[in-house]
Amino acid sequence: MTQHPYSAPDASGHFGTYGGKFIPETLVKNAADLEKEYQKARQDDQFWHEYNTLLSQYVGRATPLYHAENLSKKTGGAKIFLKREDLCHTGAHKINNALGQALLARRMGKKRIIAETGAGQHGVATATVCALFNLDCIVYMGQEDMKRQAPNVARMKLLGADVRPVTNGSRTLKDATSQAIRDWINNPEETFYIIGSVVGMHPYPMMVRDFQSIIGKETKQQILQQTGKLPDVIAACVGGGSNAIGMFYEFLPDARQIELVGVEAAGEGLTGLNAASLTLGKTGVLHGAMMKILQDNYGQISEAHSISAGLDYPGVGPEHCHLQDLGLVTYTSATDQEALAALQTLAKTEGIICALESAHAIHYGITRAAKMTPDQTIIVNLSGRGDKDMETIMREIRLD
Ligand SMILES: Cc1ncc(COP(=O)(O)O)c(C=O)c1O
Repeated sequence: MTQHPYSAPDASGHFGTYGGKFIPETLVKNAADLEKEYQKARQDDQFWHEYNTLLSQYVGRATPLYHAENLSKKTGGAKIFLKREDLCHTGAHKINNALGQALLARRMGKKRIIAETGAGQHGVATATVCALFNLDCIVYMGQEDMKRQAPNVARMKLLGADVRPVTNGSRTLKDATSQAIRDWINNPEETFYIIGSVVGMHPYPMMVRDFQSIIGKETKQQILQQTGKLPDVIAACVGGGSNAIGMFYEFLPDARQIELVGVEAAGEGLTGLNAASLTLGKTGVLHGAMMKILQDNYGQISEAHSISAGLDYPGVGPEHCHLQDLGLVTYTSATDQEALAALQTLAKTEGIICALESAHAIHYGITRAAKMTPDQTIIVNLSGRGDKDMETIMREIRLD
């Protein structure tokens, strides 16, 4: 059993001062029922047996930990390893979580599923598990994201989901999440809300982390098997923070020896429009939890921007805020242009087209590896594949 250097969240769902349950009266019973059922499921071997069987037979886990020799050689520094979450069924880590929550919904007898999505990967994962378990599926998606992630909208529809455009606010992930919460408030009895990241009110940040922690568990075994030692650095991109916490959680007991690095979206740059909530945000409440949020001096949520829809969110999961305060994880950022350049480098050296979200972590991996020595290792979590981003890529990069 892993000994963690801290125990979080506490019984009220707080990670230090972050997290909690800032919800309207109508959702109190829903959140309490969910928490009770998850605590029961958490202790139930049968639940985890079914989850793990589906992870292996349906999702295709364990995903490989790949030694990217060409990329390592090109940087001339550390050995770079890529955790291939892009090879999961549906093309990203999001399915690890959607599957776990769908099993919980089935256990609670809920037949109507709602979800929000930014890049569409969580929407596709949710539509997929709803098809598998014969559940009704409604996905809220900002109109702006529906445009830039059109292939994923088509995939969701093909899988039988009702994709509802959200036209208010910045028409991106924040607004889709608000709309999903409004739906849940209006339909509390029959609905299960499958949140796509480690955000929202307790118990979501804990529950999503638990489902995603399979990433780090596999990685730890794989790196020890392949190199005989723990890595020096591990990096992952941070939107809401689920792939990053999924990768880091198992390594937290080693966080004094290993550098754990979360990479946020710096968008146009830290002085322009960006989504670097941990780097620039201030504490506030968003979508039911206390977290670091991009906001103006009056506490109004600022508009976030990232070229990658999945990182385009003005807040970040409460556990990341806590880990930053504790100094167990450091957070940095990569701009749109840096992500685009890293995506091209990875494609040309390794034959892997990654998601724009993951490209932020790849940028960090490449620049960091160059400053390290060949006896050192760095692992980058490759959270998803880039098929969904081809339209943006074709617009932003000259391909001839
Ligand atoms: C491929 C991919 N990576 C990363 C993210 C960011 O989410 P999170 O920070 O929760 O992993 C997304 C979100 O849609 C995604 O699709």
